[in-house]
Amino acid sequence: TWNGPVSEVYSPICLPDAEGNLQRKLVGSFPVTGPKQALEALEAAVAAYDNGRGEWPTMSVAGRISCMETFVGKMLEQKKLVVNLIMWEIGKNLADATKEFDRTIKYIYDTIDTLKTMDRNSSRFRIEEGIIGQIRRSPLGVVLAMGPFNYPLNETYTTLIPSILMGNTILFKTPKHGSLLHYPLLEAFRSSFPKGVVNSMYGRGADVIPPVMQSGKVNVLTLIGSSRVADQLQRQHPKLNRLRSIMSLDAKNAAVILPDADLDVAVSECLLGTLSFNGQRCTAIKIIWVHRSVADEFLRRFGPAVSKLKPGMPWEPGTQITPLPEPTKPDYLAECIQDAQANGAAIINEGGGEVAESLFKPAVVYPVKEGMKLYREEQFGPIIPVVAFDDEEEFIHYLITDDHGMQASIFGTDTNAIAKLIDPLVNLVSRVNINAQCQRGPDTFPFTGRKDSAEGTLSVEDALRSFSIRSAVATKDT
Ligand code: G3H
Repeated sequence: TWNGPVSEVYSPICLPDAEGNLQRKLVGSFPVTGPKQALEALEAAVAAYDNGRGEWPTMSVAGRISCMETFVGKMLEQKKLVVNLIMWEIGKNLADATKEFDRTIKYIYDTIDTLKTMDRNSSRFRIEEGIIGQIRRSPLGVVLAMGPFNYPLNETYTTLIPSILMGNTILFKTPKHGSLLHYPLLEAFRSSFPKGVVNSMYGRGADVIPPVMQSGKVNVLTLIGSSRVADQLQRQHPKLNRLRSIMSLDAKNAAVILPDADLDVAVSECLLGTLSFNGQRCTAIKIIWVHRSVADEFLRRFGPAVSKLKPGMPWEPGTQITPLPEPTKPDYLAECIQDAQANGAAIINEGGGEVAESLFKPAVVYPVKEGMKLYREEQFGPIIPVVAFDDEEEFIHYLITDDHGMQASIFGTDTNAIAKLIDPLVNLVSRVNINAQCQRGPDTFPFTGRKDSAEGTLSVEDALRSFSIRSAVATKDT
């Protein structure tokens, strides 16, 4: 029972009302957590951790895994509901929403398997320099977790699941868009784990996060979201230097198309890379650098391929472009296009602008140059800025001077030319893709970034390490 304020959740999907006007569809509502309830939820996590003496942090790894397996069983029972809520709340097409659910289940099982191996290794004893010791992995305490709207289930769980399995207790704030889908699952968490292990907050981050952070009781902050929010949050902690942060943040992933690239490969990979889920992925390609000698030919093929993508409702089979959940996004995208046009660029396909409320036709903008918004800003939406270059050094200089450093893609056929680029690039970003789009998967690969793009590393194994500390029990070998 909840007597406090509630917030209504509107879908980005618009349907005609009685007068035939398109209106965002009401999906449901959630109770808005205020500062008082947020602090109560925090105290529940603190009490369950009990300075490392609680039932959960002291439970055996096998016991924790068994609770997680119970949870997965309950999660699978909710699949249809959760997939539909992903579709309605954030406009992800049904096929991709289903993939997101299945990928998350696989992620949980992979994490369980990896933890079993880590646990087997840590139960061994080592003798060195007259000391016999057992090296363990121990929890860190209370984890404040926040996930993004674009992968509200999968990305959120890549921090929640490993932190729970390592014996921490959790305070989880649901994303602004993509909150309702967490209801049935939070219920499953509550009934699968001891009291206080997983606690939740819904509502405005600006109301609930500052008191939680200022309490000084959060040991680990994990956020998949924007670099701006990350800076604000970290500064709220009274002992910033003592706070462990594991974050995946903004990105401006760039693809470079070399003069000898197979343009069919470049076109199809850049299409997927720039526009899957309307470009709303941190790993999306957000700018394409193409060698001037092949720029016209690349654009001649790429522009029509983009225009052919099918906009529509997420449940319609084959829909590739879907409504955007952030209400202010279409205006921002239009502003980026106007800025580029005012500075000499043009839309080279039949794109740009809203087809209907919240449905935006992807635009390929060329030639994008330094000084335009699209050159540096992470558009996180369906616009593809294209830059022409003469010398690869210009591209490397762009990455050096950019504030981001998540991924890059190289398209070419000359293996020597590609090899020459790999080393400088891999020291500027955290993953270089050859003749392939940027992407996070497989989830066993390290997922991180440099500069403003990330702090710490996620992946199945890296996450288990990130949410724990190596500890030792040692004695003299007599
Ligand atoms: O938003 C960032 C996601 O981690 C992207 O994941 O590359 O597998 O689509 P993905």
